[in-house]
Amino acid sequence: MRDIRKAVLPVAGWGTRFLPATKAMPKEMLPIIDKPIIQFIVEALVNVGIENLIFVTGRHKKAIENHFDHNVELEEHLKKAGKEKLLKEVVYIANMINPIYVRQKEQLGLGHAVLMAEPAVSQEPFIVALGDIIIDNEEEELSRMLKLFRKFGNSIIALMEVPWEEVSKYGIAKVRELDEETYIIEDLVEKPSPEEAPSNLAIVGRYAFTPSIFEKLKITKPGKGGEIQLTDAMKMLLEEEAIYAYKVKNPVYDTGTPLGYLKTVITFALRREDINGELKEFIKERIGLIGDVR
Ligand code: UTP
Repeated sequence: MRDIRKAVLPVAGWGTRFLPATKAMPKEMLPIIDKPIIQFIVEALVNVGIENLIFVTGRHKKAIENHFDHNVELEEHLKKAGKEKLLKEVVYIANMINPIYVRQKEQLGLGHAVLMAEPAVSQEPFIVALGDIIIDNEEEELSRMLKLFRKFGNSIIALMEVPWEEVSKYGIAKVRELDEETYIIEDLVEKPSPEEAPSNLAIVGRYAFTPSIFEKLKITKPGKGGEIQLTDAMKMLLEEEAIYAYKVKNPVYDTGTPLGYLKTVITFALRREDINGELKEFIKERIGLIGDVR
């Protein structure tokens, strides 16, 4: 099996949990302070040597294409205004990757979105990374995934421990432990109740797949929510190929809901030395006010 050189980023979802903000703009372009969410995973992929990125886009997703391209007028303006640092940054973003954009014409689910990338991926192993998830030290986690792929030559999924009462929000894995940080997947269950859940290890949104996943996606019937689920295709793949997993060590941020997004923004803002001083004061003052009202 060859090395992984490509990654698929499905960004065609409706983002209904974020409407109306996502009516004309993908949720992956919402900013964490001043950087669009999607740029975090793109930078991490580039830093681990994966520059062939395939975005599965839908209508109204032009903002992503424009973001990873030159904006000649803006570059001219920054040059004239002597804003060298900003100029360097926008040019860097435009040159960062070799993107391919594929259209998912109907939003039939994550599994269907991944299948749309098949002609661009071809018969190669590849990564799938959800654009609305941010992970601290993502490079470390991606490197672990690539290392496991090299070791086993099989599909790998990243898992994270979630509170038992929240298992029904995730795809959950039944696993057998191989060593302290590696598992072999025995089964996958999409959004189980805490009683049904075989573990509290949830699928994070980072996967490495052998190309056989495409054959399974082609025969996957619509599942939960009427969508073609990636998890269902992985279950079929399990019947023929082992799938390995590892537990992420770093915090995971799901920006796909307004609350998850706000928590991410606050976490990242509190780390930023240029703004965290005043921000902490502001938050203290606000909390004080809320305290007074109650
Ligand atoms: P989500 O489950 O977050 O769905 O998809 P969504 O449609 O984006 O958001 P909500 O649930 O309506 O609020 C997980 C990932 O799969 C992509 C999304 O863009 C997201 O990155 N996706 C989902 C597609 O590309 N196509 C689809 O048909 C569905």
